[in-house]
Amino acid sequence: MKIKTSAPLRGAITVPGDKSISHRAVMFGALAKGTTRITGFLMGEDCLSTIDCFRKMGVAIEVADDAVTVHGVGLHGLRQPEGELYTGNSGTTTRLLCGILAGQAFSCTVSGDASIQKRPMGRVITPLRQMGAHITGTQDNFCPLTLGGGSLHGITYSLPVASAQLKSAVLLAGLYADSPTTVIEPAPSRDHTERMLRDLGVTVETNGNVITLTPPTELLARDVAVPADISSAAFFLVAGAIVPGSALTIRNVGINPTRTGILDALREMGADIEETNVRGDAEPVCDLIVRHSQLHGITIGGDIIPRLIDELPVLAVAAAFAQGETVICDAQELKVKESNRIAAMVSELTKAGADVEETEDGMIIRGGRPLHGAQFATYKDHRIAMSMAVCALACAGESEILDPEVVAISYPDFFDTLTHLGG
Ligand code: S3P
Repeated sequence: MKIKTSAPLRGAITVPGDKSISHRAVMFGALAKGTTRITGFLMGEDCLSTIDCFRKMGVAIEVADDAVTVHGVGLHGLRQPEGELYTGNSGTTTRLLCGILAGQAFSCTVSGDASIQKRPMGRVITPLRQMGAHITGTQDNFCPLTLGGGSLHGITYSLPVASAQLKSAVLLAGLYADSPTTVIEPAPSRDHTERMLRDLGVTVETNGNVITLTPPTELLARDVAVPADISSAAFFLVAGAIVPGSALTIRNVGINPTRTGILDALREMGADIEETNVRGDAEPVCDLIVRHSQLHGITIGGDIIPRLIDELPVLAVAAAFAQGETVICDAQELKVKESNRIAAMVSELTKAGADVEETEDGMIIRGGRPLHGAQFATYKDHRIAMSMAVCALACAGESEILDPEVVAISYPDFFDTLTHLGG
């Protein structure tokens, strides 16, 4: 995919549905009693992997346009699949599924693509075993994992990393335990699991960083309207902020406070972002308006990291066009995402002429140099591809994004929207 220096980005766009909420809507709908109609569902490859896995366990799921209907089988209604459950590139499918499978009477095997087979699963194996689950995995840390067949009891578990996937795996196993389960987070991570389970009638109490789930007898189905994904909006927030003359509206974006670190960081860098038409209850949404402005460097670290973890690659792009130094720290988790996102961004921004240094737990970007187009690798990682496409908009000359089709994981129409905006 070739991308040239962009004209100002103007107009109003809608980005696809939230990936985290779409996954959970299918999973919880499958475990609920009754029918769940999901609108605004993200038809990306990751969420389709989740649908596939639950269909294989006997759940009837209909897909039409952006609406999905899940015919729940109840907490104890899943059936043993024939063969392995394949989760593709999706960490959320893999880890949340582990929590659910830990509590089933049957056992089955979960695996995914080459990237999934390299991502650490020991973090979910440890607490699930403490709850009584039977699990085996490659080197006790990698897919394929075989799980299930144990009877579970509640535990109190301090998460070693602020990870919503890990927290959710433990809470979901907690649905099947004989006593309450408590997780303690080092810093708040996205809380969609807690909010959505509460909405289905489960008692989930949050006190600061301590979350306790009481095992329910059943989940009651409720329709879900999925807001647009702030992690997808992030690419256009940064594009609007760095391409001179831009003024862009992004509609109906989810602004759950555990996800809005990107807004806080960009504003601290001097970005002009307005939130209008704020609405919603279980998951707040608004329309975001971004206008071009000169950015400056900041330090991004500490508790904000889990609130913008997926947005760090595109924030690194913003930093490259900002005046002065940006330090990203406490972000070791980036090394174990779909790719090593620290190494990937350092290498690709360097190709464009940026001054970027890799550190133990992040990177240092000395911004403000004029950048030039180049051929950018994507490491089979959707967010690296979209981040470098945004970078290309503000580089002098032409760039090429290799393997652009990887964006289909979370944003199948990304390049169409970019082209439509004149990018
Ligand atoms: C997610 C949690 C985050 C995030 C991922 C989606 C979720 O992962 O990076 O894209 O839906 O729970 P970690 O929990 O591993 O940080």
